[in-house]
Amino acid sequence: MSVLLKNISTLLTLQGAAAKGGRHVKEEDLGVHSDQSLLIEKDKIAWVGPTKKLPRELAKKKTLREINMKGKTVLPGLVESHTHLVFAGDRAAEFEMRNQGVSYQEIAARGGGILSTMRNTRKASLADLAKSAQERADNFVAQGVTTLEVKSGYGLSLKDEVKMLQAAQKVTGPRTLNTFLGAHALPPEFKTYEAYLDFLASDVLPVIKKKKLATRVDVFIEKGFFPPEASEKYLRQAQAMGFEVLVHADQLSLSGGSDVAVRIGALSGDHLLQVTDSEIRKLANSETTCMLLPAADLYMKCKYPPARQMIDAGSRVALATDFNPGSSPTQDVNLVGLLARLEMKMSLPEVIAAYTVGAAHALKLHKEVGSLEFGKSADIMCIESDWRTLFYNVGKTEKKLVFSRGRKIFDSLK
Ligand code: NIG
Ligand code: FE
Repeated sequence: MSVLLKNISTLLTLQGAAAKGGRHVKEEDLGVHSDQSLLIEKDKIAWVGPTKKLPRELAKKKTLREINMKGKTVLPGLVESHTHLVFAGDRAAEFEMRNQGVSYQEIAARGGGILSTMRNTRKASLADLAKSAQERADNFVAQGVTTLEVKSGYGLSLKDEVKMLQAAQKVTGPRTLNTFLGAHALPPEFKTYEAYLDFLASDVLPVIKKKKLATRVDVFIEKGFFPPEASEKYLRQAQAMGFEVLVHADQLSLSGGSDVAVRIGALSGDHLLQVTDSEIRKLANSETTCMLLPAADLYMKCKYPPARQMIDAGSRVALATDFNPGSSPTQDVNLVGLLARLEMKMSLPEVIAAYTVGAAHALKLHKEVGSLEFGKSADIMCIESDWRTLFYNVGKTEKKLVFSRGRKIFDSLK
């Protein structure tokens, strides 16, 4: 069955932003057009253009269902490209401790932090993890998210990392993409980061590969967490096995993560708030996407990443929630975009491109998602208000109609 979104009042294609690879995005790159129509056939965009140019034979098809989009704004579905969606328990007590002056690293050194979520996640069943992951995914979808990245990293053993990734694979609705983050913290069973990374490379990655549980491998490079040299060796081993790689880099200190990311051709360097001019230049001259996560910076009371310098130097940036129970316990994509506008001097067109084209690049899905063009996946968000009200009023529940791969996954427009 085909679906025709007819008489769309305002369509944002993001075609220009996609053509520029998400770099130096200006308002004209959003491709804002009025009185448009868009045809969905199976999972793809089969036609898009001015309603008055809609070919007759398309409009007359028997199997066609028409939806009148008069008064509506249509744009690419959002790509939420950095989440720790699967976990059990919460860290609300630690949040209070941090507010009373105990640092994230101190809490981690006392066995809290990631290891406290690890204990809860190890105890949880696959079914329980899948259930909470689905509820959280639904929450993203209600905000217009059609592609969702999900990391493991709270199991930290073969069995429990597999369980987390299997839970993520059970999520239905949006397109999901799994990332293996076994190298998130040192589990109690290991004495050194090097020994643990060797174990991950020899005993865990082959299983992840064989069972097709993830296509990407991530490491938390940070003082007090994984050191850059051993992490680089591990990521190169992952690349040799056919995984894409990415890095949690330069979040709490300038600890070498973004340099590793650029050197090995990582898809993204994530966080990056501590980088200096030298790292900014290297990132801008690379294919590595700068993954900026300002909600984590808000919760961690850190500075924000130098987005303005990154963008002006020619970097491609993506924005995401970093949703996790510790450093960013929020799923609010509006808040992320708002912080980027208020605190990182990003323009609204830059924010919209970062949450679509930029994020699609970070996931290497830019040929399929991020812009609305003939032949691309029908991943679409339809809203009632003007696009200029996006990433503006936090807390407002916008009515929406959302398609992922041509299937309606959310509808509150009716
Ligand atoms: O992206 N930085 C490392 N990982 C997460 C935090 C995870 C946690 O605290 O549970 C992050 O901020
Ligand atoms: Fe993260």
